[in-house]
Amino acid sequence: MTFQEEIKRRRTFAIISHPDAGKTTLTEKLLLFGGAIQVAGAVKSNKIKRDTTSDFMEIERQRGISVATSVMGFEYKGVKVNILDTPGHQDFAEDTYRTLTAVDSVIVVIDVAKGVETQTEKLVEVCRMRDTPVIVFINKMDRYGKDAFDLIDEIEQKLGLNPRPLSWPIGMGPDFKGVYNLFERNLVLFNPHGKQREKDVVKFQDLSNEKLEKHIGGDAAGRLREEVEMIQGVYPDFDKNEYLSGELSPVFFGSAVNNFGVKELLDCFIQIAPSPRASKTAEREIKPDEEQFTGFVFKIHANMDPKHRDRLAFVKICSGTFERGKSYRHVRLGKDLRFSNPTTFMASKKSIVDEAYPGDIVGLHDTGKFKIGDTLTEGEEIHFNGIPSFSPEIFKYIENADPMKSKQLAKGIDQLMDEGLAQYFEVEATNRKIIGCVGQLQFEVIQYRLEHEYTASCRWEAADFYKACWISWKNEEEFSTFKRRKMRNLAQDKHGKYVYLATSAWDLNSTQELFPGIKFHFTDEVKR
Ligand code: G4P
Repeated sequence: MTFQEEIKRRRTFAIISHPDAGKTTLTEKLLLFGGAIQVAGAVKSNKIKRDTTSDFMEIERQRGISVATSVMGFEYKGVKVNILDTPGHQDFAEDTYRTLTAVDSVIVVIDVAKGVETQTEKLVEVCRMRDTPVIVFINKMDRYGKDAFDLIDEIEQKLGLNPRPLSWPIGMGPDFKGVYNLFERNLVLFNPHGKQREKDVVKFQDLSNEKLEKHIGGDAAGRLREEVEMIQGVYPDFDKNEYLSGELSPVFFGSAVNNFGVKELLDCFIQIAPSPRASKTAEREIKPDEEQFTGFVFKIHANMDPKHRDRLAFVKICSGTFERGKSYRHVRLGKDLRFSNPTTFMASKKSIVDEAYPGDIVGLHDTGKFKIGDTLTEGEEIHFNGIPSFSPEIFKYIENADPMKSKQLAKGIDQLMDEGLAQYFEVEATNRKIIGCVGQLQFEVIQYRLEHEYTASCRWEAADFYKACWISWKNEEEFSTFKRRKMRNLAQDKHGKYVYLATSAWDLNSTQELFPGIKFHFTDEVKR
């Protein structure tokens, strides 16, 4: 196969959802179709269930699972599919944001009864910022839920997407009869007690055909005709290019646990989803078919054995061919490194790889040289854009609880932050250190890992901040007045960038009014 063909046949994507919508179940069904696993239940959920928040053994166990399921690669109809796993628990949302920088498209799973939930809104916002193509899968159609048109409205309003149904449900809950696949123009009948069979898929180019009544009954047939006519009148025709530019989102309906609608989703996905796209760097755009290898680190996974601090750095290949044993430039360090045992992933099986192509993820053994966002090249000095940092939701001062172990604590904090476990700020006026997280569970994980991997112990103290805003300014004089007046709220992040720690929405507003020349940003595209 030529290099171009290898690139064209790759689909690297993530499945995102609010916890419990069915992400794990859908992933598993896709892997079953791809033959990557043979039995249901082979992929364990990597979600840390809410009721086990203080069970650290559970966290460790989950960490083990999540390294195994970080990338799930499989072949389907000649296409190489790479699913990048994202943590199910919302406290680790930032990990998901970073994974989204390494995918070329996304499938969003929505629970038909719950509709669009908050976690999904945030995640889709990140996709929209990057124009990532999104497909929506509305799951659990075997249960009663919201009306399909209302759901489509919700997707439009809450997620800011421009939805286009490509399948349409016929009933729901106990009356669910199946879907009409508008992409393939066929009727897919739901068989609740068994596997989907070939004869359950009926070609139906023209819905006015009276045979429709025979399959789904008179009432449902009448309603389906009306609704499909409405869809065709109200929503724009499906245009693959609009989907690829992130302007239009196909919507599918199904039931993952019943393996219903999943094959239709996968068949359409491999046809329309993008192969590796061009990546932006601070210097220039990198096209996947460029000969020279480039890639960046989007995730770092610490070793499960606390005695060894080595880690696995996950690199997304953006261009060229990655070759085992070849020397590559670590741009930030200005050093050339060689990797003798790069790893790839086929479902939960890890293996050493000799060559990998754009769209693939390789795991590199790391002894502390990598940070999230680092670039590898064949010598060119480039820096990939766009690993966003968002304001944390909870802030706490971290204090040393064992004066004999301050070095260990500093090292531990440094390395855990490199992994992207949380955000770090140092207050300008007092030098106090603040850790910012999305959820409480992250603080518990940090404390546990500091103790077990670095023999350091820490104490948390409440830091009453509401948001962290990265600031930029043009007028140095205004900035120095700002610095003087707002010293207590001014901090630097891990990269030395200035951050304003607002105590409330009111504080943020009044500070903005007081210093109109200073710009406050809620996200930071970390320059690498
Ligand atoms: P997540 O990764 O998005 O958090 O969700 P997950 O797949 O774990 O699914 C959450 C729950 O929803 C699971 O039930 C799963 O079986 C169920 N589920 C997934 N798809 C469907 C569907 O199409 N219909 C219905 N009715 N249920 C579905 P659970 O009771 O939490 O776990 P389990 O004991 O079944 O594994």
